[in-house]
Amino acid sequence: RSIFELWGHGRSAGELYASLKNYPMDKMLPYLQSDSTYKVRIHTFNKTLTQVQKIKKIDALEFLPFKGKVNLKNPEHIFCILEDYGMDPNNVPEEPFHLYFGRWIADGQRELIESYSVKKRHFIGNTSMDACLSFIMANHGRVKPNDVVYDPFVGTGGLLISSAHFGAYVCGSDIDYNTIHGLGKATRKNQKWRGPDENIRANLRQYGLEKYYLDALVSDSSRPIWRKGMLFDAIITDPPYGIREATRRTASQKETVKSAER
Ligand SMILES: C[S@@+](CC[C@H](N)C(=O)[O-])C[C@H]1O[C@@H](n2cnc3c(N)ncnc32)[C@H](O)[C@@H]1O
Repeated sequence: RSIFELWGHGRSAGELYASLKNYPMDKMLPYLQSDSTYKVRIHTFNKTLTQVQKIKKIDALEFLPFKGKVNLKNPEHIFCILEDYGMDPNNVPEEPFHLYFGRWIADGQRELIESYSVKKRHFIGNTSMDACLSFIMANHGRVKPNDVVYDPFVGTGGLLISSAHFGAYVCGSDIDYNTIHGLGKATRKNQKWRGPDENIRANLRQYGLEKYYLDALVSDSSRPIWRKGMLFDAIITDPPYGIREATRRTASQKETVKSAER
C-alpha cells in the first residue's frame, strides 16, 4: 500500500529504539531540519489503539533529533510507526510481533487496477494486457508527462492506456489490420462483430486520455519502419509469445516468388 524508507525495526519497542539509534545520523538529518515541518503517524495491523496509546508511542520517540515543527495538516515529512499484531483477529497479542519505523515515501495506487479493469473496457482483444501489469510496465519504463511512448505490438492498446495515464503521448503499430481498424470478430461473449467505435482511440477516450493519442498504424515490427534517431522516450510492449497470440510476419516478394517456384 505504501513505500517507506526503513530507519529501524525490532521485535519489541526496546529493539526498535536500539535499531533506530544505529541508523546513520547523516541519513536522518536532512529530514529533521529546524526549518522543516513533520508529523508522525502510527499504523497498526490487526489491532486498534486508543488515541492516548498512540500519543504515548509517538512521544517515546523523542530521543530522535526532530528539530522541525509539527504540522499535522500539511507536513513536509511524514514518519510512521508500523506495528504488526499478526493475522489472527481472535488472538491478538498485547504487544506487537514486530515494530517498524520509517519515513513515508509514497502511497500505492491500487484503486487504478479496478478503475482501468479490462472487464469494463470498451475495446478488448484475446490478449488485452491486464491493467495491473500495464501500470507496472509503464512504471518500469519510467513514463512521465510529455514523454512519447511507442508499442510495436499494440493490439488493443492496453499499454498505451497506462502510459497515457502518466501523461505520455502514445502511439503503436500492429500487423493485424482488423485490430488497428477495430474490425472483425468481437472478443466478448454474446457479440459477434466488433462495433463501429471499438478501437484504441475509443479506449483512451473512455478514460479521458484521448488527447494523448498520437496514432496507430498497421505494420510488421520485424521490419524497420522508423528513421534512425531518438524518437521515443520509451518502447513498452507485450510481444506475441506464440501461445495465445501467434507471431506473424509479412511475406516479402522474394519469399513469395520462392514458394511459387517450389
Ligand atoms: C500479446 S498481443 C499484444 C496485446 C496488447 N498489449 C493489448 O493490450 O491488447 C501481441 C500483438 O502482436 C501482434 N503481432 C504479431 N506479430 C506481429 C508483427 N510481426 N508485427 C507487429 N505486430 C505483430 C498481434 O497481432 C497482437 O495484436
